[in-house]
Amino acid sequence: MTAGTIPKRIGVYDSGVGGLSVAACVRRLLPEAHYFYLSDNLNFPYGIKPDEAVVAFTTKNCKKFIDSYELDVLVIACNTASTVALEAVRIAVKIPVVGVVPAVKPAGQLSTSKSIGLLATPATVKRPYTLKLIEDFANGCSVALQGSSVLVEIAEKKLRSELYSTAAIKAEVDALLGQDPKIDVIVLGCTHFPLLQDELSQLYPKIQWVDSGAAIASRVKSLLPTITPTLKPQRHDAGVAIFTIETAAAHSLSNALIPFGFNITDFLKF
Ligand code: DGL
Repeated sequence: MTAGTIPKRIGVYDSGVGGLSVAACVRRLLPEAHYFYLSDNLNFPYGIKPDEAVVAFTTKNCKKFIDSYELDVLVIACNTASTVALEAVRIAVKIPVVGVVPAVKPAGQLSTSKSIGLLATPATVKRPYTLKLIEDFANGCSVALQGSSVLVEIAEKKLRSELYSTAAIKAEVDALLGQDPKIDVIVLGCTHFPLLQDELSQLYPKIQWVDSGAAIASRVKSLLPTITPTLKPQRHDAGVAIFTIETAAAHSLSNALIPFGFNITDFLKF
């Protein structure tokens, strides 16, 4: 086997299960690669944590993840982490790092009413990075912002097969639409939210929902030819979902992880 034919090892990082929505898009485009998923369940949820804390967790965990699993490329599949920690991680590691930020640009291009909504975590909607993204790329649209931790928790519950309330999903989106009834496109600016796409589309069939998954997958694909895999002793592990702390909730996710291609559960030891 030559270096070019060794499957690339792609790591996907998030605070919780949200990054699975991105991992699914990347895997669809690059089925041959080997995938590793790290959830920082110890520090979840990031959306209500101070910026400095998110930078510190993300940098430390990503370094350890890359070293432990000999990754070739890392996707920070978390808007809350990417909008504040991307540069710090890029400085700290040697492999290419792709971040996920709210898809404001495509939403601005898609809106016919010129009113769009951004649904993200409470931290992401306040970030200077996000506000600049809106200023530069909203294409003349007005942008209503709604921070929601409730939807993050509901997505986690859904994946653990626990009961969750559709009325609670509706209340969060109604709070956004209440700010501007002309909104015709909503950006899902948190990677947890595409996991609720079926519920959202059913509740609001006229709204167009936009996320960053497909764009991230194309970005990863475009990077792969530039990566020379280090000729390390060949590893055969793949499809591993890793957590930063062993909990009953992490174990209860194992069935939900299988359709995303993660059959093995592991716990990162620092
Ligand atoms: N999935 C993460 C994002 O895209 C955030 C969830 C959390 O609050 O930890 O922003």
